[in-house]
Amino acid sequence: MNTLSVKSTNDFSQLKVKDVVTENFHAVELFEKLGIDFCCNGNRPLQEALKEKQISNNKFLEELNKVNQSISSESQRYSEWDLNFLTQYIVNNHHAYVKKAIPEITAHLMKVNHAHGKKYSYIAEVQNTFALVAEEMMSHMMKEERILFPIIKYLTESQRFNEKPKTGGYGTIKNPIRQMEAEHVSAGSAMEKIRALTNNYTLPADACTTFQVTYKELDEFEKDLHKHVHLENNILFPRAIELEENLMNENK
Ligand SMILES: [Fe+2]
Repeated sequence: MNTLSVKSTNDFSQLKVKDVVTENFHAVELFEKLGIDFCCNGNRPLQEALKEKQISNNKFLEELNKVNQSISSESQRYSEWDLNFLTQYIVNNHHAYVKKAIPEITAHLMKVNHAHGKKYSYIAEVQNTFALVAEEMMSHMMKEERILFPIIKYLTESQRFNEKPKTGGYGTIKNPIRQMEAEHVSAGSAMEKIRALTNNYTLPADACTTFQVTYKELDEFEKDLHKHVHLENNILFPRAIELEENLMNENK
């Protein structure tokens, strides 16, 4: 676990982007505002990301303080939550949202393409790219719910009974996690492509209501994906790996 704290250090040189978000989940909104990718590029040094956006350390700390003032106590607890509670939270909130949003966005994109596709040819590419994201995400969430999250549950049970976990066909938990992380990158890149195709969700002047709603939905979908991936990549996965390592070392 990284013990460095953004609040307690002015030496940014050792901090990664993800450290800031792990310490304070509300920093997600700040990074989104600054255009810094905290999700797929969370391992990047903070200093480098700030420099690229021409943001001084002081300015960043000032903005972060504003965020800190608006933190709710609940959001800080993700790092302390029981791992099974965290997986349930992800399934009940993020997975449920994705499952509900996909058919709605798909239907709206079909409608927009049908009505405006001739004039705005990029809509067809947005539709195709989102269809890929939808397919990948449905299979990805199924793998998490049926394979990875049950392995995490098994590890917490082993901890409860002070037993050495048996390794299954997956070897160590790092293997399925690596696969899930690769799929996160793929979904994140596809949503980034949609953002670029739509020029950052800039609506044409003659956009109808469905067009407007669809852009809002896609924007919301990407933001939810970022939070979802952050909870897994930066909190759930490292804690599960640490738990497995501890159980293997303690029960040699
Ligand atoms: Fe995931």
